[in-house]
Amino acid sequence: MKSLPKFLALGLSLFALPVLAETAAPEKAAQCAACHGQAGAKPIMAAYPVLAGQYANYLEHALKDYKSGARKNPIMMSQAAALTDEEIRALSRYFAAQEGPLYTPSIPGHKVEPH
Ligand code: HEC
Repeated sequence: MKSLPKFLALGLSLFALPVLAETAAPEKAAQCAACHGQAGAKPIMAAYPVLAGQYANYLEHALKDYKSGARKNPIMMSQAAALTDEEIRALSRYFAAQEGPLYTPSIPGHKVEPH
């Protein structure tokens, strides 16, 4: 019975690990914050899009398009060029999971006032 707490602790930590991996900021997220703001929620200029709360698959698609040149923007093409597919996926999941001002007006009961 003595080993039960250890066993429980191991079980809990194994359970917690994937959650932490999902929500921890990827290393390169810090450089994105220079323009897109802390956690991608508060860009430094109105022309710089909010990333926080955006759909992960949209962010991933956009980053891959900048990288391939299908979407053209000198700033973001150079940013995306330096990212691997794994980093793109991790950054997209991270920013999608952050709180931000984006909203979908068509969802009943959701706030409809522009921020
Ligand atoms: C030097 C400023 C700057 C930095 C640093 C930067 N971005 Fe951007 N980002 C922009 C601008 C400006 C746009 C809008 C470009 C356009 O109109 O296509 C943009 C657009 C995007 C978009 C498309 C969003 C949308 O709504 O269509 C994504 C995704 C994105 N950035 C992710 C990132 C990530 C991830 C990083 C960090 C690796 C990053 N950005 C770093 C300036 C920056």
